[in-house]
Amino acid sequence: MLGLLILLLCFLFLLYMAAPQVRKMLAFGVCTSTVQLPGKVAIVTGANTGIGKETAKELARRGARVYLACRDVQKGEAVAREIQAVTGNQQVLVRKLDLADTKCIRAFAKDFLEEEKHLHILINNAGVMMCPYSKTADGFEMHIGVNHLGHFLLTHLLLEKLKESAPSRIINVSSSGHLLGRIQFHNLQGEKFYHSGLAYCHSKLANVLFTRELARRLQGSGVTAYSVHPGTVHSQLTRHSALMKCMWWLFSYFIKTPQQGAQTSLHCALAEGLEALNGNHFSDCQVTWVSGQARNETIARRLWDVSCDLLGLPVD
Ligand SMILES: NC(=O)c1ccc[n+]([C@@H]2O[C@H](COP(=O)([O-])OP(=O)(O)OC[C@H]3O[C@@H](n4cnc5c(N)ncnc54)[C@H](OP(=O)(O)O)[C@@H]3O)[C@@H](O)[C@H]2O)c1
Repeated sequence: MLGLLILLLCFLFLLYMAAPQVRKMLAFGVCTSTVQLPGKVAIVTGANTGIGKETAKELARRGARVYLACRDVQKGEAVAREIQAVTGNQQVLVRKLDLADTKCIRAFAKDFLEEEKHLHILINNAGVMMCPYSKTADGFEMHIGVNHLGHFLLTHLLLEKLKESAPSRIINVSSSGHLLGRIQFHNLQGEKFYHSGLAYCHSKLANVLFTRELARRLQGSGVTAYSVHPGTVHSQLTRHSALMKCMWWLFSYFIKTPQQGAQTSLHCALAEGLEALNGNHFSDCQVTWVSGQARNETIARRLWDVSCDLLGLPVD
């Protein structure tokens, strides 16, 4: 018995010693594009931490003017200073954006449109996962409200600017969790049934459907859209679930770092010749498959119309 215990401890010790190598092996997909971005303008939502911060840092490193769209401006300012110091790029700006409040989204877009002539890269990265049942300022369930409707509205408000700045790209950070998602139009706000994990998956499916419908509508405009699964990444996303936090901590040496998690978003934003793959879903810097519901054009169009309706946007 003691022998077995010693063997197990030795195995765990070796496993943890090998963790950096295992992590390297599991972190497939590196953005290999060498594109530089002087004169280009980018927005990254949720850029004060995790994958968003690393994405913004790399865009700044390549010379873009980068807007960190954060709900906590103080946190954003600290990160902007850090990015400026690391990259030497002073054009890293912080603007308040709370995706759980459509008034704030509209104010952000209004100020941005007045301030900037161009927008070349929009990275809809911010997200919440496994929140207890709660609602946004406009009464939307938090996951669908922040992860889908907030970004849906933001993208709509910035779309003309993206078209004027073409070629330009929109990246929607989704998740492989979309595979478990369902768009239940009779329960979109989770009022009849709510499960925090499933609510996250539904909202991530909405990200994929939005991307595909957006790409279809944008054909020929010079603006392309991609959805992304960043991988399993050690970040603050698990903050609402003690169990997930524990698991992420336990496996933290093996899962992707935020910098590794940013690679697929960066690939979709930067890689040359990606236009033919407009509307596709990417993981590890490669096109990957999506669930049956995510490929359903009828659901995508209906979700588009319902989203416009909920947000008071004209249905076209
Ligand atoms: N980590 C993973 O394993 C994983 C896997 C698949 C997909 N993803 C996706 O990757 C994206 C980035 O997640 P992450 O892992 O980097 O998580 P994270 O570290 O928790 O970062 C999430 C970001 O979203 C922001 N945010 C949350 N609610 C917001 C709101 N109402 N308005 C504006 N910003 C808000 C957060 O701001 P505060 O700091 O102020 O809260 C934070 O900056 C998410 O869309 C997530 O669904 C992550």
